[in-house]
This record gives sequence, structure tokens and C-alpha cells, in this order.
Amino acid sequence: MPAPTVEEVEGPVYGMTGRTRGMDRLAIALDTDDSVEALRWARDYRDVFGFAKVGLELFTSEGPGIIYALRELGYKVFLDLKMHDIPNTVKRAARVVGGYGVDLLTVHAAGGVPMLRAAVEGLSEGAAAAGSATEPRVLAVTFLTSDPAVDQIAFIARLDAAAEAGCGGYVCAAAEVEMAKERHPELFALVPGIRFKGAEVDDQGRVATPSVALAKGADLIVIGRSVTRAADPAVAIAMLKAEAAAF
Ligand code: C5P
Repeated sequence: MPAPTVEEVEGPVYGMTGRTRGMDRLAIALDTDDSVEALRWARDYRDVFGFAKVGLELFTSEGPGIIYALRELGYKVFLDLKMHDIPNTVKRAARVVGGYGVDLLTVHAAGGVPMLRAAVEGLSEGAAAAGSATEPRVLAVTFLTSDPAVDQIAFIARLDAAAEAGCGGYVCAAAEVEMAKERHPELFALVPGIRFKGAEVDDQGRVATPSVALAKGADLIVIGRSVTRAADPAVAIAMLKAEAAAF
């Protein structure tokens, strides 16, 4: 069943307020299997976040319809599927994703250069075939931020593999982003594992506050539970705005 449109869930969408540059450095992780909840968050926070992240849970539950609904709301979409398979399979799947009009797609850097290159080719072929206005980027996931520690040599090898394969960027924890930017300043850095000062880290091993991650060079930070599961989301949004205001 296709995901309901925003209008079906909450009535007509009135004029968007203008996008700001700062918004394009903030992504909200819509981690739920319920499109009604996801679209409620998306609508509530669309003046704060420029990107919406659709992950495995939401995409498996709702399929591409949720991507179209988020784009209608004015979001750039980050599809976090963390693909890892043989190159041919990844290329074909990435080509399908290219047709959805997403801006970012993740694949595991551990899949190696041929697989990463296949993802890059597939995604751009799919976008071109669909006449998409966006130029989507493949981001290579170096290590998960839930991993307690990162082997630096393996991290650099994965980063170099991403660059060699023509990926547009990578995903890493705030702790590695300065090193990564120094080595590959041309690549886009996406940083999850964001927590406000003094908050629970949940299953995230290597966390940073929004301002620290942005100051270290993250082009985009991804924030999920700190906002969506906050005891008072309005307070969380105010804290985020205060931290992000300088960037
Ligand atoms: O709720 P929280 O802010 O921890 O969510 C972080 C989001 O970033 C999740 O959707 C998770 O899948 C994603 N992510 C991550 N680590 C990576 C890549 C993506 O935590 N390396």
C-alpha cells in the first residue's frame, strides 16, 4: 500500500518558509515504521532540517512512497540503506534508487572499490534515466557510530576506497571527521551519533554534540532520537537551533 500523502494525514500544506543554508547541514532521522508518525515529525520540523533521513525501518515498511511525500514537503532525502552486496546487485539496486530523486544514498565502504563504483554508476544512471533534477551522491559508511572504537588504518583505507570509487562522500563519527577532511577535503562528510550534552548515548558508541560535530567539519549531521524521542521535543529543537546558529 503506498504511503499516505501529507495532505491525507494532516490536511493541506500551506506555504513553506524559506530554506536557510544552515538547514542544509541538519538531517532528521525518521526512525519509525509508521509513515503517519514519520510525516508528522517531518511536517513539525521542516523549518529546522533541510534533509530527512529514511532508514531501513521506514523504507522497509513504507517503500518509495515515503520519499515522494518527503520531497513534496520540501526535504532533500537521505536514503540510508547501507547497501553491501556483490557489485552487480548493488548497481542495479542503486539504479532503482536513482529514480526516486533522493540526494544521498549510503553503501558500506567495506564492500570495496568495485562495489562502491557500481553504486556510484547505478545511482547516477538511475537519476539520469528518470530525468531527475538532483545529482545524487553515494556516501560510503566507514564504520558505524555504534562501534566502540575505530581502527585508524582500516578507516583510512575505507575513506580512500570511497574517493577512488568516485563516491561523493562518507559517513563517520565526529571523532574522525577532522582527519577525514584533511585527507579528502573534496568529499562530503556526514556525521551521525549526535547527542546533546549530558544526554543518554543509547546504542551510539562515539557521540558528539551538534556544535562540536559541525565545528569539526561535518557537512551534515544526522539527529534522530535526541529530537524524535525527547521528553520535550520543543526544548530539544531550541537547543539544536542554539547550537547550530553559529554555522
Ligand atoms: O537516534 P540517533 O540520533 O542515534 O540516530 C542516528 C541515525 O544515524 C540512525 O538513523 C542510524 O541508522 C544512523 N547512522 C548511524 N551510524 C552510521 C550511519 C548512520 O548511527 N554510521
